[in-house]
Amino acid sequence: MKIKKLFGVLVAATLVAGMFVGCGSQGGDSKTTSSNSSSKKKVIGFAQVGAESGWRTAETESIKEIPKLDTNFDLKFSDGQQKQENQIKAIRSFIAQKVDIIALDPVVETGWDTVLKEAKDAKIPVVIVDRNAKVSDESLITAFLGSDMEEEGKKAAQLVIDKFGKDASLNIAELQGTVGSTAMIGRQKGFNETIKDCPNYKIIKTQTGDFTRAKGKEVMEAFLKSDGDKINVLWSHNDDMAVGAIQAIEEYGKKPGQDIFIVSVDGIKDMFQLMADGKSNGIVECNPLLGPQLLEVSKQILDGKLTDKNIKSKEGVFKQDQAKAELPNRKY
Ligand code: AHR
Repeated sequence: MKIKKLFGVLVAATLVAGMFVGCGSQGGDSKTTSSNSSSKKKVIGFAQVGAESGWRTAETESIKEIPKLDTNFDLKFSDGQQKQENQIKAIRSFIAQKVDIIALDPVVETGWDTVLKEAKDAKIPVVIVDRNAKVSDESLITAFLGSDMEEEGKKAAQLVIDKFGKDASLNIAELQGTVGSTAMIGRQKGFNETIKDCPNYKIIKTQTGDFTRAKGKEVMEAFLKSDGDKINVLWSHNDDMAVGAIQAIEEYGKKPGQDIFIVSVDGIKDMFQLMADGKSNGIVECNPLLGPQLLEVSKQILDGKLTDKNIKSKEGVFKQDQAKAELPNRKY
């Protein structure tokens, strides 16, 4: 009888313990998960921004492929939920767990010096992924892997110039991404520098939509309410905000893609579909499928054979007449 009871207690304890295996640590608003716990494997700790957009979901899925691509690697993943403090907490937790590589996709550019110095002191190489981190000491960062955001802004502006010419008079509404992020700073800079040669291009509205559909719609509604009949062009720093804005434009009674020329960055399937339907005009691609490259760079670092410290993604530009043909090729 006693043995039976003891057995029951052991089973219950095992079940409760099992609920926490693979969940890693949880602290504050962020959540850290681990896909495997074998100590012989090389471990990458990935501090993600959040889950604000289709692009971000695709990037997360690609990063989570790493242990499947190479079974010698394990991944610890943390969702920062758009907060730098959560990402800093995740990095400190990775340091405490003695991971082999820390990969950071920084929500904003600045404010990383202290925590990255802690990683350096612990002799853990740091790879910055997607967005940039500006640090006072370059040796805090072992490698960068991602897009040239300024170039993306330039390409977006070129799409507008290709359509209207440099001498046109245009009123542009701009939906900015997360304030302080490289994706926002770089894209805005690239776009604004390119339209400097166009004397009558005016940005009459500019506000952040935080890279989300809901906020993109909300901000576009406000733009339309005050200046609906003046706006000729919508320049959106990402596709998700443009998707939300397209809904707002339709509800306002205008035809997106016709009454308002729309350009955005990313290249998610939903946006290609809208462009194939004639509701948008141009997409600048930004590649989120960074898992295989992060794996490769991590291997090179751990083997002491890093060939390129600064790896920029190759990305295309698509106009409306290419959307239907490209749609079946989209992977995210
Ligand atoms: O940093 C990449 C940007 O972040 C993507 O363009 C946007 O969709 C995401 O949220």
